[in-house]
Amino acid sequence: MQAMVQTQNLRKTYKHADGTSIEAVKGVDLEIHQGEIFSLLGPNGAGKTTTISMISGLLTPTTGDAVIGGYSITKQPLEAKRLMGFVPQEIALYPELSARQNLLFFGKMYAMGGKALNQRVDELLEFIDLADRQNNRIDTFSGGMKRRVNIAVGLLHRPQLIYMDEPTVGIDPQSRRRILDTVKQLRDEYGMTVLYTTHLMEEAQELSDRVGIMDHGAIIAMGTQGELTQQVGEEDRLEFTIGAQTVTDELIERIQNKATAVTRVLYNPPEQLSEEGSESTPARLIAFAKRGRTALPLIIQILDAAGIEIQSVAVREPDLEAVFLALTGRALRD
Ligand SMILES: Nc1ncnc2c1ncn2[C@@H]1O[C@H](COP(=O)(O)OP(=O)(O)OP(=O)(O)O)[C@@H](O)[C@H]1O
Ligand SMILES: [Mg+2]
Repeated sequence: MQAMVQTQNLRKTYKHADGTSIEAVKGVDLEIHQGEIFSLLGPNGAGKTTTISMISGLLTPTTGDAVIGGYSITKQPLEAKRLMGFVPQEIALYPELSARQNLLFFGKMYAMGGKALNQRVDELLEFIDLADRQNNRIDTFSGGMKRRVNIAVGLLHRPQLIYMDEPTVGIDPQSRRRILDTVKQLRDEYGMTVLYTTHLMEEAQELSDRVGIMDHGAIIAMGTQGELTQQVGEEDRLEFTIGAQTVTDELIERIQNKATAVTRVLYNPPEQLSEEGSESTPARLIAFAKRGRTALPLIIQILDAAGIEIQSVAVREPDLEAVFLALTGRALRD
């Protein structure tokens, strides 16, 4: 299979004004094959946007390079950029212009014009199913509609490769569905290569031919979903959402020892989601077990006896979340 994108030791260190610095991407080597959907899956701050920005030439790597269809993004940026389209994480449209005017404007930035540009804009408005709203201002659009226009902008110059940085964040389920279908259509009907980033396991699982799992600036696992889940074996994962009661090491040990077939227990304490501290994720206890359904009642008994309130229970088969948990000890969270 031919490589559409190949990166070598991509690194990015951001320097802050106060003299401190952060190594946001720590030597990423990845290969994306022609015609595949490749997802970078990782939690907030993992380095997904920084990686995709370096591969697309928006950000200069501190070290390393990316080769796109044979062209180095640092040495032959014009040739490399001609092959790719980019859908940024933030909406980048003029709110006071209509959808059509936005597309015409960005088309001219790609040095397109005349009849060819008009035709391409017609085609794309059909493709994103917004032909009937093309003359309305962007600021009258829903979040999902804006995202679709954003995607059309990335497709204007008929790239072979498209980067999409978390294109479904903050939109309703129906719009999300539409965008996921569009991504698959780009691969299946137009033979495009897609580099997709997300922090949602479900999206990575539905879309990807291959996945790179990212954490703290590094790719910690990469492969097809089958290859990745094989790494964690055949174990089921029992997930308990629990009350705020304290979970002691002793309790975790008791579960590990008493409940047969439990190989590992992880405790993820509640996590603050906002600075004000008004929102937080619930505490979670996660047990890996060979026969999840057999271990389940035993664990419930132990938690009950310890006075831990169980708010919900789920038994999950090996998936990408299990791979992330096994490698980091933490859950992928919103
Ligand atoms: N311009 C910048 N200056 C300084 N630090 C930055 C800058 N951009 C990102 N960072 C830091 O680099 C790290 C990686 O950020 P990045 O945006 O690449 O992550 P991400 O995986 O895209 O996260 P998210 O899911 O929140 O979009 C974070 O710690 C972030 O705070
Ligand atoms: Mg990001």
